[in-house]
Amino acid sequence: MCGIVGYVGDGEAARFLLEGLTKLEYRGYDSAGIAVFDGEKIRVEKSVGRLAELKEKLGDNIPVGTMGIGHTRWATHGRPSDLNSHPHTDCAGDFVVVHNGIIENYLALKEELIKKGHKFLSETDTEVLPHLLEEFYDGDFEAAVREVLRRIEGSYSIVFMSRNDPGKLICSKQDNPLVIGLGKGENFIASDIPAIIAHTRRTYILSDGEMAVVTKVGVAIMNYAGVPVRKKVFEVNWNAEAAEKGGFEHFMLKEIHEQPKAVRATLSGRIEKDGSAVVLEELSWDKAFLNDVRKIFIVACGTAYHAGLVGKYYIENMARISVECDIASEFRYRSPIIDEHTLTIVVSQSGETIDTLAALKEAKRLGSKTLAVTNVVGSSIAREADQVVYTWAGPEIAVASTKAYTTQLIVMLLLGLYMAQIRDSLPKERIEELVNGLKEIPTQISRTLEDVDPIKTFARRYGFNEHVFFIGRSLDYDVALEGSLKLKEISYIHAEAYAAGELKHGTLALIVDSLPVIAIATQKSVYEKTLSNIKEVKARDAVVIGIASDTDTELEKYVDHVIKVPETDEMLIPLLAVVPLQLLAYYAAITRGCDVDKPRNLAKSVTVE
Ligand code: F6R
Repeated sequence: MCGIVGYVGDGEAARFLLEGLTKLEYRGYDSAGIAVFDGEKIRVEKSVGRLAELKEKLGDNIPVGTMGIGHTRWATHGRPSDLNSHPHTDCAGDFVVVHNGIIENYLALKEELIKKGHKFLSETDTEVLPHLLEEFYDGDFEAAVREVLRRIEGSYSIVFMSRNDPGKLICSKQDNPLVIGLGKGENFIASDIPAIIAHTRRTYILSDGEMAVVTKVGVAIMNYAGVPVRKKVFEVNWNAEAAEKGGFEHFMLKEIHEQPKAVRATLSGRIEKDGSAVVLEELSWDKAFLNDVRKIFIVACGTAYHAGLVGKYYIENMARISVECDIASEFRYRSPIIDEHTLTIVVSQSGETIDTLAALKEAKRLGSKTLAVTNVVGSSIAREADQVVYTWAGPEIAVASTKAYTTQLIVMLLLGLYMAQIRDSLPKERIEELVNGLKEIPTQISRTLEDVDPIKTFARRYGFNEHVFFIGRSLDYDVALEGSLKLKEISYIHAEAYAAGELKHGTLALIVDSLPVIAIATQKSVYEKTLSNIKEVKARDAVVIGIASDTDTELEKYVDHVIKVPETDEMLIPLLAVVPLQLLAYYAAITRGCDVDKPRNLAKSVTVE
């Protein structure tokens, strides 16, 4: 996700801003910028690419001044470019803003502002903020910021700076982190602790709905109505490396825990306010084409392919279109049957996987319409596809994909519902039921993440086994495939996932005394059948860990241990069932002393065939 820094004091602002942004580089970004107030005017410098490019552009001509803000951007609205980079200004250059997150109602606000004569330079949602400030400012900076905050909807952390109010930065947050570092004769603002840890360990962690006025001598925190809020100073006692991981031991664990927030971001602005329908404004195909699609291919690699398998189930069930899910490196060589009524959906976290990119090009060459589901704005796959739906998971740093998978599942579900709405293939009540279930998922993932102790215990107890089987039917089988991949890639345990009904056709021969079997049994429609398969492996003395919903009282009678996840619709439960499997893989890898974030032989972005 983007990085934010701010400085006010007696020192050289630009020095801190550039240094602070460097400390946030690990989070991933595609452009950077700073704005510094020199006592008279605000100088803004920005550049697409790495910070090194911004520094090169500045050369010796570093902006001079003791107050400033800076930003590293991870593109959301609008591709990575100089113009889309932050900070953004109003028409007169009196106000500058840096922002992380998404302003959901920016289109309506932008229209309103354009009508009033404001000129916009970028494609970003952020740019509405300085223009709103310009609109509301009548000499009282704080009052104008409060008005802006009242008008915007979405998730954000923002820092505002005004040319008319020297020595004063104002910041606020909603669903995105923001910390204020307390120095002596200087104060700092950052989206993450690593940016300030070299200067101070005394911080205020802002809460949602709070706004802070930061000067070099003090910090006043208040709510949006201006009522002061008393806050305790939080002393950071992590070292710089731990701070990068937000206090988690590994990026993978951090990213597993980021899933509620990531899923919220994926859903943001894509559900009708009354919960009645899905909105995918980014899709501009005419209804006639979507009504006429006769075949869909979902093409991807690894974890993204597993998300595609769930997508196949969703789209076939909801939109009643036949879907084939293909491994990208196979698809392009198998001469798929494609015509103008075919839609090919490629799924890729990085948007750079060469197999997926080549499959996308092949589908286009054969005459298919194409849609990319990806996390990286401006990536090769996003640029090549006809249309794009972004997952908005934020940068994923650990090699093992976790939050990318859950957010891909969310997009698949949104696509299924969207096509069902257009094709009128699902009753309205069922759409509402699923949409309302979806809204609960972030909280339910958080609940799933609360109870990790039993998972740690299983990982310790079974972490030294060399073989593990995963079984499940229907959507549980798709989740089993992902659980098994996670375990093998980071713990190097040999793991196999089988459709539970398939065991008896050969694999059952491998089930022996004390062999761990993870049985996923969340799908009510095939529950009894899965139970029978569990009994088959129990009869061969396997040790079975079951994954079930928390209303299930049956499974524990047949297995050795049960991990429960919150009850939800059986279509949605893969979003929850995968979480204990991610944690099991993580803790098994820890037990075996593996390098979790950088497993052997693997790379985060696979740009070779
Ligand atoms: C596994 C994993 C990989 C990727 C695969 C595709 O945890 O991360 O299997 O899913 O290499 O990568 P993207 O999604 O970037 O195309």
